[in-house]
Amino acid sequence: MVHLFQPLKIRDIELKNRIVVSPMCQYSSEDGFANDWHFVHLGSRAVGGAALVLTEATAVMPEGRISPFDLGIWKDEHVEQLQRITNFITAQDAIPGMQLAHAGRKASKSQPWTGDKLIPRSEGGWKTVAPSSIPFGEDYDKPHELSVPEIEEIIDAFAAAAVRALTAGFKVIEIHAAHGYLINEFLSPLSNKREDEYGGSFENRIRFLLEIITAIRDVWPQSYPLFVRISASDWCAGGWTVEDSVKLATILKEHDVDLVDCSSGGVVPNVKIPAAPGYQVPFSEAVRKGSGILTGAVGIIITPEQAETIIATGQADIVLLARELLRDPYFPLRAARELDYDIPWPVQYERAKRKK
Ligand SMILES: Cc1cc2nc3c(=O)[nH]c(=O)nc-3n(C[C@H](O)[C@H](O)[C@H](O)COP(=O)(O)O)c2cc1C
Repeated sequence: MVHLFQPLKIRDIELKNRIVVSPMCQYSSEDGFANDWHFVHLGSRAVGGAALVLTEATAVMPEGRISPFDLGIWKDEHVEQLQRITNFITAQDAIPGMQLAHAGRKASKSQPWTGDKLIPRSEGGWKTVAPSSIPFGEDYDKPHELSVPEIEEIIDAFAAAAVRALTAGFKVIEIHAAHGYLINEFLSPLSNKREDEYGGSFENRIRFLLEIITAIRDVWPQSYPLFVRISASDWCAGGWTVEDSVKLATILKEHDVDLVDCSSGGVVPNVKIPAAPGYQVPFSEAVRKGSGILTGAVGIIITPEQAETIIATGQADIVLLARELLRDPYFPLRAARELDYDIPWPVQYERAKRKK
C-alpha cells in the first residue's frame, strides 16, 4: 500500500491523493486579474497529478497585495478568469483551492526579480496597515495601526472574497495566517503590541483570525473544506511557539477549520531558520498529535520516498510542495511510478507512461 496515493475525504470533497500544490505568488497579474500565465501554471500542475491545486496568496483588498502584481479577488470582475482556471483544474480530476490573503505591513513591494523594493506612494505604492505601527525592517513601510472599524472592514473583505471564490468554482479555501503577513502579525507578540481586545493575551491576538474564520464559514458551504496556513514558530525568543500552534489548532478545530497547514517564520527578519529537507515536518506532527486536527506538512519535501514516509508515519495528512513542483509539474505522476503505484495519467499522455 502506498499511503501517498490514498484518497482523503474532507467534508464532501475527496482529494485523490495527498499531494497538494503549495501556494506560490507569481507576481504576474495586472489589477489583480488572472491571465494566461495563471491558467497554464496552475493547469499544468493539475495535469501533473496533484490532488489539490492552491492558488497563490490572493488579495482580498488592493492594499492587501504584497506587490501591485499579485492575484486579487476584491471585485466581481475577477471571477470570470478564475472560473476558466477552476474549470480546467476540475476537468483534470483535481480540486481547485484558493489561498486568501492580506499582506499587512509587508505590502507595497516590487516583484522579487526587480529587487523586492518598497514602492513609494508616488510610484503606485500604498500605505501599509498592521496591528501596530512597527515596520517589518529596513526598506519596509511604517504601517498604519488599524482601528477597530478598519479591522472589521478587512474581515468583511475576507468574507466577500470567499463568496467570489465560491462563484469562481473553488472548493477549498486556505486562509493565509503565516509568513508575517497581516493575520500572522496579529498572532505574534513580536508584531502585535496593541492594548485593545485584539492585542496582549493569546486569546486577544487570535481574535482577528477567529473572526475571519467565522465570517468566512458564514458564507462558505459546510460541505467544503477550510484550511488555515500558520507559521508554527517565529524561530525567535519571545515569539510564537509550537505550543501556541497546538493551542491555536485545538481552537481552530472547534471553529470548523478542517486542516492546519504548518509552515513557519516570516514575522521578524534575520532569524536563523535551519532549512533542510523536511525541517517543518515536526511542526505538522506536533500540531496533528496535540490537537487532533488534520495537518499539512510543507518545506523542502522533494522526493517521493520522503513524502510517502511523512504520510505513512502519521506526521501529516497531506504534503504541500512548492519549488519541487516548479522544477517538475509532473512530480505526482513520477512519484507514483517511483513508488510502484499505478495511477491514471491524462489520456493524452498515456503513451508516455512507463512501468518502473
Ligand atoms: C515562488 C514562490 C512563491 C510563494 N508564494 C507563497 C504564497 O503565495 N503563499 C504562501 O503561503 N507561501 C508561498 N510560498 C511558500 C511556499 O508555499 C512553501 O511554503 C515554501 O516554498 C516551502 O516549500 P518548498 O520547499 O516545497 O518550496 C512561496 C514560495 C515560492 C518558491
